[in-house]
Amino acid sequence: MEAYKNRPKEPEGPIVYDGSKIYAQQCVACHQGQGQGLPGAFPPLAGSEWVTGAPEISIKVLLHGLGGEIQVKGNTYNGAMPAFGAVLNDAEIAAVISHIRGSWDNGAGEVTEEQVATIRADIGSRGAWTAAELAEYF
Ligand code: HEC
Repeated sequence: MEAYKNRPKEPEGPIVYDGSKIYAQQCVACHQGQGQGLPGAFPPLAGSEWVTGAPEISIKVLLHGLGGEIQVKGNTYNGAMPAFGAVLNDAEIAAVISHIRGSWDNGAGEVTEEQVATIRADIGSRGAWTAAELAEYF
């Protein structure tokens, strides 16, 4: 019972997720350290009109993925963004989106866990979005 006695105390209150840590674990391999992307392969998140636009865009991209042609900062990409809906919970998705919206001079507001939960419940499971489907937010 010695081990049990020495068990660390459970953290108190809600867990606060570090969006920059999630970015470093899940996004940096493709979108790169400064969110600059990789020309011809991965679109930038820094200065992206999709990232700084309506929060719904990033939430949907993260939950379900994105495929087909997309124009970002004047360049065309045609790749496949993996879905993170089964990998990250609502609070983690909110944290990483808040991170990309608030980094690299993007200057866009935070996204809440509730906003992610609402869209997750409304949409349910589906395949990747296309840019055309998300363009309704502009
Ligand atoms: C395996 C590579 C890969 C990973 C990992 C990845 N993405 Fe993407 N992402 C892409 C590609 C490719 C596209 C463009 C898809 C297309 O061409 O339709 C994209 C598009 C996007 C877009 C919309 C376009 C833009 O440039 O603004 C956002 C927002 C985004 N990703 C955020 C993220 C975030 C946040 C993470 C980490 C949780 C992440 N991505 C992880 C490859 C990736």
